Amino acid sequence: MKLERNIVREETPTGRPLLEARGLAKVFEGRHRVEVFQDLTFRVDRGEFVCVVGPSGCGKTTLLRVLAGLTPPTRGRALLDGQPIASTPREMVLVFQDYTKSLLPWRLVQGNVAFAIERDRALSRDERRARVAKYLDLVGLGRMAEFYPWQLSGGMQQRVAIARALAREPKLLLMDEPFASVDAQTRAILEDLLLGLHGSFIETILFVTHDIDEAIYLSDRVVVLSRRPTRVIQDVAVDLPRPRHQLQTRGDPAFAKYRERIALAIQSLGIGEEFTTW
Ligand SMILES: Nc1ncnc2c1ncn2[C@@H]1O[C@H](COP(=O)(O)OP(=O)(O)O)[C@@H](O)[C@H]1O
Ligand SMILES: [Mg+2]
Repeated sequence: MKLERNIVREETPTGRPLLEARGLAKVFEGRHRVEVFQDLTFRVDRGEFVCVVGPSGCGKTTLLRVLAGLTPPTRGRALLDGQPIASTPREMVLVFQDYTKSLLPWRLVQGNVAFAIERDRALSRDERRARVAKYLDLVGLGRMAEFYPWQLSGGMQQRVAIARALAREPKLLLMDEPFASVDAQTRAILEDLLLGLHGSFIETILFVTHDIDEAIYLSDRVVVLSRRPTRVIQDVAVDLPRPRHQLQTRGDPAFAKYRERIALAIQSLGIGEEFTTW
């Protein structure tokens, strides 16, 4: 099965904020009090592909959990379409960083993907089955449908989690370092798959990565976070032509300028190894 990859988006962003973090603060109380962020503000407009980069432990996962309504902020507001987010909105799907915990070990790969849509009454049994097969194929796991997750490599398990999220065909997709354990070639294919889907049913994507190049390649905007207590230190609009191409886009002199700008911002934090640039 083949999908037209990396097509130009049909709709341009409307400039209307879809997702907003307004003065978000999050503190974990307990024996070791952790102030994750203090005053985090940024927005994602409808139609945008926004990447968030920031050092390990700065609160990227916590931020996505707050925006998905899985944990409340200590102060400030998380808004979807201007409304406070209290639980995961129907049109939103979050791909967790820890895919090993998010897959059901007693279900086959196909059963794990089906899990995402089995309560969707708008779909017939055949449609559900076709969707499972389609997204497993698209992430390159068509032949692994009848394996158990624990029989797969880490990268494959991560792709099962991605297929499960895509099978929902969400309008708004939040992803937490989703390609961290896949090999470089597969990663390039998955990046382009995502860019292609952003041109179809997925309207808006918020994507966490610690790879600066990946962030620039994918996004309309890169939001750079500081160390804890975390704030936004840069919000860089990426004005590279679409459709993007792995070789041409990454070889564009403007690409190198964005990389330099973001890397310098990160270096100013005194950070090194948590980021990969080259
Ligand atoms: N449930 C929790 N209770 C206490 N501390 C937590 C909890 N979840 C995350 N933290 C702490 O919050 C900080 C940010 O974690 P996380 O959001 O996972 O960062 P990142 O995804 O950027 O690596 C870390 O110091 C982590 O130890
Ligand atoms: Mg994380």
